[in-house]
Amino acid sequence: MKIEFLKNGVPALLLAPMEGVTDFPMRALLTELGGFQYCVSEFVRVTQEPVPEKVFYRLIPELRSGGRTASGIPIIVQLLGGDSQKIAESALTAVKCGALGIDLNFGCPAPTVNRHDGGAVLLKSPSRIFEIVSAVRRVVPANIPVSAKLRLGWERVEEIYQTSDAAIQGGVNWLTVHARTRSQGYAPPVHWNILKEIKKIAPVPIVANGDIKSLQDFKKCREVTGCEHFMLGRGALAEPALAQGIAFELGLGGTLKDQHFYYRMSQERWLPLFKRFVELAGPQAQSPFYTAKRIKQWLSLAGRCYSIDWAEPIKRASSLEEMWEVFCCEKKEVAL
Ligand SMILES: Cc1cc2nc3c(=O)[nH]c(=O)nc-3n(C[C@H](O)[C@H](O)[C@H](O)COP(=O)(O)O)c2cc1C
Repeated sequence: MKIEFLKNGVPALLLAPMEGVTDFPMRALLTELGGFQYCVSEFVRVTQEPVPEKVFYRLIPELRSGGRTASGIPIIVQLLGGDSQKIAESALTAVKCGALGIDLNFGCPAPTVNRHDGGAVLLKSPSRIFEIVSAVRRVVPANIPVSAKLRLGWERVEEIYQTSDAAIQGGVNWLTVHARTRSQGYAPPVHWNILKEIKKIAPVPIVANGDIKSLQDFKKCREVTGCEHFMLGRGALAEPALAQGIAFELGLGGTLKDQHFYYRMSQERWLPLFKRFVELAGPQAQSPFYTAKRIKQWLSLAGRCYSIDWAEPIKRASSLEEMWEVFCCEKKEVAL
């Protein structure tokens, strides 16, 4: 099986990689809800040795069934590391396991990852980005896309001109840019305006990423950047119907049934999603305790986008059963 490469003139929406969040059940759930054309796996770290098959199958079980989620959405496997040969070997193994695309992480801001020569630290050396991308592009078959995910820079937004050029010269088929520097972490502002400049000069599609948390944000981002390709991370967790709304706006099908649906989620709308998540986690789940923890994490991430005044008792629940009880006892709407 192969996937369509991103093309200028053909819009697309991608689900962002979020380590510890967009794992197998979350990818299954969010792609089942609709709107996404692709999703990117959480990063797979390439450290001392190239990544063996069993690790890919454990982290991305969908590779055993055609490299797509149950709803048929292709998964692009993301690799993170600093050793071009080991990354290239790992990329080849991922493809042999069934990966439909390879993405290279040059954006992770985590200090531990950066200290070990991975993620955003590579932004300091465009020549190393070139080396890694070209090593991967050389070994991966031509029908498998290779992309890179960058931040704007380590310190300065202007660094993106050199790093994006290095990735393009290395042979990426498209570039995703989180419109912040590494030193910003997740702090404002998001610099969509720079993406507009990169888009004008890049010969490959540019996927705009960062702070699209509502349909209004999406429209603004599209207007400012001129991009046709977008990646959605935290917004997809805070408002799981947002992807459908954006897909509609991009002309990718679906309907915008209810404008105010794309707004803050009420408690009653969360419950079926949580239950479906538990169902999808099923046999993959480490334990019901772990699944409960994941639901709390999800609520916390959503709670950073808007206030969820009923979340506290859920966060205090020590099991899934306790959580469901809280939902049953407190059927109250979120104040809009
Ligand atoms: C919890 C969390 C985990 C993340 N893990 C990854 C990752 O594994 N790989 C990656 O390239 N980016 C990762 N990111 C960054 C996101 O993919 C995305 O670039 C960032 O959140 C900005 O987009 P958003 O505003 O739509 O969330 C992560 C972000 C969060 C919040």
